[in-house]
Amino acid sequence: MLEEISKTKLEIEAAAANISSREDLQAFRVTYLARKGKIASLFARLRDVPPEQKRSVGQELNALRSFAEELFKEREKHFEESRKEKKGFLDYTLPGREFPLGHTHIVSRTIADIQSIFVRMGFSIATGPELESDYYNFETLNFPADHPARDMQDTFFIEKDVVLRTHTSPVQIRLMESRKPPIRAIMPGRCYRNEVISARSHVQFHQIEGLCVDTRVTFTDLKSTLVAFAREFYGETTAYRFRPSYFPFTEPSAEMDISCFLCHGDGCRVCKFTGWLEVLGCGMVDPNVFKAVGYDPEELTGYAFGMGIERTAMLRHNIPDIRLIFENDARMLRQLG
Ligand code: DAH
Repeated sequence: MLEEISKTKLEIEAAAANISSREDLQAFRVTYLARKGKIASLFARLRDVPPEQKRSVGQELNALRSFAEELFKEREKHFEESRKEKKGFLDYTLPGREFPLGHTHIVSRTIADIQSIFVRMGFSIATGPELESDYYNFETLNFPADHPARDMQDTFFIEKDVVLRTHTSPVQIRLMESRKPPIRAIMPGRCYRNEVISARSHVQFHQIEGLCVDTRVTFTDLKSTLVAFAREFYGETTAYRFRPSYFPFTEPSAEMDISCFLCHGDGCRVCKFTGWLEVLGCGMVDPNVFKAVGYDPEELTGYAFGMGIERTAMLRHNIPDIRLIFENDARMLRQLG
C-alpha cells in the first residue's frame, strides 16, 4: 500500500506538470481529487490495512491528498492570473481611434479660397455692417428713388431708412469715404433678401464684392483681373464671355459667364443646356457713385464686381439645393470637408 501511495504521488506530480489548459486542470481534479478519484479509492482501502499499519498509511494518504490539492491550487492560480492579464491587456500596436475633428464650413472655405486669389493679386480685405442705412445700401449706389430693388418684396426693412443690406456693394461706398485712392479691395459678407426660400434662393446668403479705383483703371483691367481669377478658381482651360448688363452703380455693366466645367460646353442640367454659367456681375464705377463719395470722376476711374458665394460653392461642388448649405446636416457638411 505504501508503495502504491508513493507511485501515485509520482503520477500526480507528472500529471500536474502536464496541465496546460483549464480542461487539463479539471481532468486532474476528477482523476485524483474527486469523490471517485484515485486518492479517494486509496482511502477506501484503508479498511483492509492491518491495524498496526493503519496510522502510518493514514498519515501517508493524508499527505498525498494535501500534495495533490496543493498542486491543483497552484495550477488553478496560474490560470486565473493569466486570464486577468489578458483582460487588462493593452495592445500598443493597435492603430489609434480617429478623433472626430470639425472643419471649415463650405461658405467660409469658398470665401477664403476666393480671397486668397485676390490677395495674391494685391487686393486687401474690407468688411462693413450687415445693418445698413438706405443711404449706403441704395442711394449712394445710384439707385433711383423708385427703383424696384427698394421694394418691400426684396428688402427687409428694419425701420424706414434702415435695412438688412441686400448686397455687399455698400461696403464700396464706406471704403471710398474712409480712404483715398488708389483702392484695391475685396469685401466678403452676409446679405439678406426677402425672397421665397427655394432650391435656388434663400433669405440669407453671402457675396464677395471687389473694387479697384485709381487714375487710369480701364475695362481691360477689369476683364484681365476677372479672367485671371476664373482661370485660377475654376480651372486653367475655363472659357469666358462678358455679356452687357445693367447695374445702377456701374457704367458700362456686364455679367461674366464661364464655360460649364461639368459638360465643357456640351449642355447639361446645371448650365440649363446653354454651356455657360453666370458667375458674377461687374462694370466700371458709375461717375455718380464717385460724386456721392466726394471723388472727382474726371480724375478717377475704377471697376467693381460682385459674386454670390453660395452660388459659386454650388457650382463648384455640384450642390443641387442652397438650403443644404444652411441646414447644417452633419452628413452633408462631412462630404464638403
Ligand atoms: N450688387 C450686385 C448684386 O447684388 C452685384 C454686383 C454687380 C456688384 C456689379 C458689383 C458690380 O460691384 O459691379 O447683384
